[in-house]
Amino acid sequence: MPTPNETATTRIAQRRRYLMCRPEHFTVSYSINPWMEPSRPTDTAKAVRQWQALHDAYLALGHEVELIDPVPGLPDMVYTANGGFIVDGRALGVRFRVDERRGEERPFMAWFAAHGFEVIEPVEVQEGEGDFLLVGDTILAGTGFRSVGDSHRELADVFDREVVSLRLVDPRFYHLDTAITVLDPVEGVGGVERANIAYLPSAFDEDSRRVLAERYPDAIQVTDADGAVFGLNAASDGLHVFISPRATDFAAQLESRGYIPVPVDLSELLLGGGGIKCCTLELRGGAR
Ligand code: ARG
Repeated sequence: MPTPNETATTRIAQRRRYLMCRPEHFTVSYSINPWMEPSRPTDTAKAVRQWQALHDAYLALGHEVELIDPVPGLPDMVYTANGGFIVDGRALGVRFRVDERRGEERPFMAWFAAHGFEVIEPVEVQEGEGDFLLVGDTILAGTGFRSVGDSHRELADVFDREVVSLRLVDPRFYHLDTAITVLDPVEGVGGVERANIAYLPSAFDEDSRRVLAERYPDAIQVTDADGAVFGLNAASDGLHVFISPRATDFAAQLESRGYIPVPVDLSELLLGGGGIKCCTLELRGGAR
């Protein structure tokens, strides 16, 4: 049952600007997460079709999509969430934990620079918006698998914002954006942070679960079944939530709170261990 507060909430879609990369070179030729199985064939044309459907869904709902050219030999470049982290026109580049993706670091930083963003070279190992999520004024930052804890300090210095560290414990959910969906950016009312999220409790250690429960008492807690189909790897504009069509309970939870689920199937890209949010990097601020 929604609380009276939620019933009174009118959800408003905010226009977003996203960076995407057409998966022209998509394949699974190495394994750097439990989803990737190089012996299993992939269908690049299908990956492109599914990706195109996401791209078109964003445009159809009024969002702006920028494209970065895919680079041959970098099959994971489609997961642009790992290309950086951008707030107020300032782009912190990434330093991948995994060698297989280090070739993406320069192309992403070059794109940010060429598009009017102030680029900050990272020092510590971290994988961008895959592990860093802006919720209201706070940055939630994941560690445990890819981004190192020290990158959270660097993040706080660079953006001068509160950073809350969260520890991931299930190897299937190796980036924070596989375990948390940021639903809306509504700001703190009376000291209580009203910005809301959905999350998969079992992906976090006990301390992190406690932090999440305290900070986001109204959060949607998603079932393990919906987590396992990458249901949390979703993008929201504050009203529409682009999610896997297989996350049916999560879709119902969203509807009961006044969000509109927009199902987009990226099954082929899940073979690389990525979903909707992984293919989406938010560009906040900066020159156009
Ligand atoms: N194969 C990629 C990797 O393991 C998938 C990245 C998914 N991205 C994300 N933001 N969760 O790095």
